[in-house]
Amino acid sequence: MLFGLRLFPEQASTMAGQVDALLLFLLAVSLFFIGLIFLTVIVFAIRYRRRSEAERPQPIHGSLPLELLWTIIPLGLALVMFGWGAWLYFALNRPPADAMEVFVVAKQWMWKFQHPSGMREINELHVPLGRPVKVTMTSEDAIHSFGVSDFRIKMDVVPGRYTTAWFEATKPGEYRLGCAEYCGTEHAKMVGRVVVMRPEAYEAWLRGAPTGISLAAAGEKVFQQNGCAACHLSAGAGPGPSLAGIFGKPVKLATGQTVTADDAYLRESILDPQAKLVAGYPPIMPSLKGMLGEEQVTQLLAYIKSLAADQKAKAAP
Ligand code: CUA
Repeated sequence: MLFGLRLFPEQASTMAGQVDALLLFLLAVSLFFIGLIFLTVIVFAIRYRRRSEAERPQPIHGSLPLELLWTIIPLGLALVMFGWGAWLYFALNRPPADAMEVFVVAKQWMWKFQHPSGMREINELHVPLGRPVKVTMTSEDAIHSFGVSDFRIKMDVVPGRYTTAWFEATKPGEYRLGCAEYCGTEHAKMVGRVVVMRPEAYEAWLRGAPTGISLAAAGEKVFQQNGCAACHLSAGAGPGPSLAGIFGKPVKLATGQTVTADDAYLRESILDPQAKLVAGYPPIMPSLKGMLGEEQVTQLLAYIKSLAADQKAKAAP
């Protein structure tokens, strides 16, 4: 607080303190050099001012120690900034493996959340305290940006691809979620809140909320309704590759390349099946572009992941 003004948002995530520490370090270094430069300019202007019309400056012959000093110190400082910044960047971009997942679809002008349990929320995201949460996001229209300043995270939400962010809340409460990328007339109204609850309260909230079917079960429905099962569920014997256990595994393509079957690859293969064709399969799958919304694609992905979890049990009917 300074003159009643809050200079910094609240620190409500595990990373908030570390982001602030780096920012303060950069600020301190900048202020120190601004001070040093201004001071030197003023002192030298007075000390070495021209005192008479006849005065001529002395030639300078350089100084190796001085040259080394003002090369090595800034180099060291810049490397500290680089190392620290890179470390923090990676920490902020790599969700812990045990993070709970939430899917986000942004559209003009709202935030839609889907929990793996099947629970859906609009402009409100309930999460438990002290547990890392990974958000996987995409947009149905313009580029938006998922920003929660109290957690020090901000990530663009881009149509046609998935982006992720993660946070672990450290204080119960409500935190403002804002759109941090101009996305149209009601951009400023595209706000929501993240509600951080103690684990017991969160469990109670989960129980009390309307129970839909799980995300994976919803995905299974989409899978059946769109005829995917006809080709993909015969454990490799059908016209399409089996999907059991495929998530996160390497896939060999017709081009000889190998890719990992992650969210982005599976999404592309649903919407543009011929883009990265699996080796040994003919290019016969129709595109589901325009037939499936982003939320349904998310549900399909959850279903495919669930096949990975319980292997062939569900896959071989
Ligand atoms: Cu969405 Cu700005």
